[in-house]
Amino acid sequence: ASGCKIGPSILNSELACLASECVRMLDSGADYLHLDVMDGHFVPNITFGHPVVESLRKQLGMDPFFDLHMMVAKPEQWVKPMAVAGASQYTFHLEATENPGALIKDIRENGMKVGLGIKPGTTVEDLAPWANQIDMALVMTVEPGFGGQAFMEDMMSKVQWLRTQFPSLDIEVDGGVGPDNIHKCAEAGANMIVSGSAIMRSEDPRSVINLLRHVCVE
Ligand code: DX5
Ligand code: ZN
Repeated sequence: ASGCKIGPSILNSELACLASECVRMLDSGADYLHLDVMDGHFVPNITFGHPVVESLRKQLGMDPFFDLHMMVAKPEQWVKPMAVAGASQYTFHLEATENPGALIKDIRENGMKVGLGIKPGTTVEDLAPWANQIDMALVMTVEPGFGGQAFMEDMMSKVQWLRTQFPSLDIEVDGGVGPDNIHKCAEAGANMIVSGSAIMRSEDPRSVINLLRHVCVE
């Protein structure tokens, strides 16, 4: 694939300095920001919700694309608040809803792009019926809940399958992605690359972002 976008996950950043951490990522060449929302129900961890997103939107002058990764038990509940807060894309989990079609429609009516994610245990065939109605498919390469986990290479067959079936769909990978495995993601056909700890823990985030992007273009 050519033309990957790199979206740092700020989950492992200094959360009390979220705005300056986001600015640091944007100044380092991030194409978008991947914001991990966790509610302690869908995943065993809590991060932040729409009030923080709203505040971030106000603080950040440069109008970045906000990809909201909604790891929440009731994704229906936060569509409007997140739209009002300034979310650009609302990425929900297939496992969290009974009615993906209605949720997709609601997200669109609230003016956001639609992302649909699957956990490692969910098959890509379960996602396929919705693929023509969404902007982006998210293939998780770790169990959602925490940053800094090991990349699950066997998820690449899902990415490959989606890329073959839906050539123009944006496909995002998230979890354990970094310089060691970016070539596998790019080869499989992912074009939206989330990377958390590999970027955040680096002394030189710009060079990591450049490296990730460079592999994608090759
Ligand atoms: C995990 C989150 C990811 C995570 C990525 O539940 O969805 O976005 O923060 O961080 P790394 O790259 O450290 O796995
Ligand atoms: Zn995420």
